[in-house]
Amino acid sequence: MKLMWTLLPLLLLLDLTVFTPALPFSKRHIDNPKSLVPGGNRRYCDVMMRRHWLIHKGKCKQINTFIHENLSTIEDFCRTPPVPCINSPSMHNCHDSTHDVSVTDCFASAGARPPHCHYRKKDSTRPIRVSCEKGEPVHLDG
Ligand SMILES: *[C@@H]1O[C@H](CO)[C@@H](O)[C@H](O)[C@H]1NC(C)=O
Repeated sequence: MKLMWTLLPLLLLLDLTVFTPALPFSKRHIDNPKSLVPGGNRRYCDVMMRRHWLIHKGKCKQINTFIHENLSTIEDFCRTPPVPCINSPSMHNCHDSTHDVSVTDCFASAGARPPHCHYRKKDSTRPIRVSCEKGEPVHLDG
């Protein structure tokens, strides 16, 4: 028990540094040019969700979108007029893309648990909406 209390702060610290959910936008969402992964495009989400540290704390992140554009393209969207955010309509720091962007949406398969997080994948070219702080994208809203 005593050992556990000694280790706990260390484990919390490790958790924050290694598995931080506050990963920068680019780490969570930018993959440009789109990576070629072992096993082929079919395995893209399974590999990329792991590679980008989106599997942690005993959970598979349910949804994530990878954008196949450079960060400066997304930063430009931050300069469009602000619109309400879709996921939190009370927030108005969201911005629509000025053109469709190439993305891969990853959706966790039902019942998937680490280390076996399996994903369904949808490749498309679609509009996106980002929230920005100080001219930088911080969150992909839709
Ligand atoms: C980002 O991508 C756009 C469109 O493909 C391109 O015009 C621009 O030069 C790129 N910017 C950087 C910094 O790579």
